[in-house]
Amino acid sequence: MVAVLGYSPQQITDAVQDMYTAVADRPDTHFHFPVGRQALRFLDYSASDADLLPEGVAESFAGVGNPFMAQALNRGDTSLDIGAGAGNDSLIAASRVGSDGQVIALDLTAAMTRKLQYHAEGRYPNVKVIQASAEHLPLANESIDSITSNGALNLVPDKRLAIREMFRVLRPGGRLQLADVVINRPVNVNCDSDPRLWVECVVGATVEDSLLAMLGDAGFENVRIVRRLDYFAQSPSKQTREIAQSFGAHSIELSARRAGQAPPWWQRWLRRCHPRRWVADLHRRGFLGVATLILALVSCYGALIAVGILAALGAGMSLHPGLWAGTIAMFTLLATVFIATGFRRHRSALPAVLGAIGSTLVLYALFIDYNVITEFTGFVFLAGAAGRDLYLRRREEAARLGLGGRSQP
Ligand SMILES: C[S@@+](CC[C@H](N)C(=O)[O-])C[C@H]1O[C@@H](n2cnc3c(N)ncnc32)[C@H](O)[C@@H]1O
Repeated sequence: MVAVLGYSPQQITDAVQDMYTAVADRPDTHFHFPVGRQALRFLDYSASDADLLPEGVAESFAGVGNPFMAQALNRGDTSLDIGAGAGNDSLIAASRVGSDGQVIALDLTAAMTRKLQYHAEGRYPNVKVIQASAEHLPLANESIDSITSNGALNLVPDKRLAIREMFRVLRPGGRLQLADVVINRPVNVNCDSDPRLWVECVVGATVEDSLLAMLGDAGFENVRIVRRLDYFAQSPSKQTREIAQSFGAHSIELSARRAGQAPPWWQRWLRRCHPRRWVADLHRRGFLGVATLILALVSCYGALIAVGILAALGAGMSLHPGLWAGTIAMFTLLATVFIATGFRRHRSALPAVLGAIGSTLVLYALFIDYNVITEFTGFVFLAGAAGRDLYLRRREEAARLGLGGRSQP
C-alpha cells in the first residue's frame, strides 16, 4: 500500500494502537482530544443514553461526534460499529436494535476490544466484539442493516477501501450513521517524523467535500450532513486547537443510504476526473499557480510546437495571433494572481513581486514589443515565483504542525 503523508501503513497502525491502548487502559492520561463523560456531554449524548453506560466503558469514550443524531438504527437491525473503541456507541446501539437485533462491535486495538468484551459479557447478549481493521471487514456481503462509526475513518490509511467495505457488507437500502473529523484544507507536508500527529485526528482527516464524494463514488446516496461542530475547541491542548483551526478541522455527523448497486467503474472514473474536483483540489493544495503557469507555457510553446509538427506532416495550420496571445496572457495573469494569494499563508511578498515582474515581461513581449528573450525571461521569473510560493507554503504548514521540534502542551 502507498504511504500517506510519508507514513507507512504499519507506522499508522502502530501509532493508532499505541494511542488507543492508552485511552483504553489509562483513560486518566492527558490526551489532546476530549475523552470520557465530559466528551459525551459536550457531544450532546442524551442523559438516558449516557446513564446506560458502565463507568469502565464511558471513561474511554473517544468519539468525535454523536452519530445517533442521524437516527439510522431500527429495532431488529444487525448493526455494525466500526472503530467501536471501548464500545459506548455499541452499547447504545444495542438498546436501539433491541433483543431481536445484534450489534457487532469492531475495533483495531486489542485493548479496546478486551475492555468492551469484559463489560459486555453477560450483560449485553446482543453485542459481539471483533478485533479487525475497517479496511478488511471479516463479514459477509450484504449481511448488515446499519453501520455506526465514530471517529475511526480519519485514522484509517485507505479511506476509499474502508468505505467500499462498508458498502459491501451493508445490504441494499442499508443505513450509515457516521461521525468523523474533516478538514477544509489538506495537509501536504511529510509528517512521518511525528506519528502522533496522525492519531490526534487532524492530519489523517479528509477534506469534507472529498469524503462526501468518496461516499457517492462507493454507491451511497441521500448523503446528508446532520450537524457540524467545532470539536477541537474542547481540546485541552493549545497546540492542537491551533493546528485544528489552521486546517479548518471540525466534526460532522452524517447519514447515508446504500444504493442497490455501486456505480460502474467508468462512472466512478468520470466522477473522479470531473474538472471541478481537480480545480478544487489544486486550489486547496496551493497548486493553482503552478497549474496555470503550466497552461500558459503549453499555450505559448506547446501551441508553437504543435503547429510546427503539423506543418512538417503537411497539415498546414496557422494560429490566430490575437486569440493565441490572449490565451497566453490570460493564463499568465491567472498564475500571477494565484501565486500572490500565497501571501495569506506565508506573509512573504517575494513570490508576488517575482510573479508581477514575470507577467509584466510576458505581456510586454506579447502586446508591445515581441522579443523571445523577454518572453522567456518573464516565464523564468514566473516559475521562480511559483516555486518560491510552494516552498514557503509547505514551510509554513510544517511550522504550524510543529514538525522538527514539536512542543508539548
Ligand atoms: C477516536 S476513537 C473512537 C472510538 C469509539 N468510536 C468511541 O466513540 O469512543 C477511534 C477508534 O478507531 C479505532 N481504529 C482506528 N483505525 C482503525 C481501523 N483501521 N480499523 C478499525 N478500527 C480502527 C481505534 O482503535 C479507536 O478505538
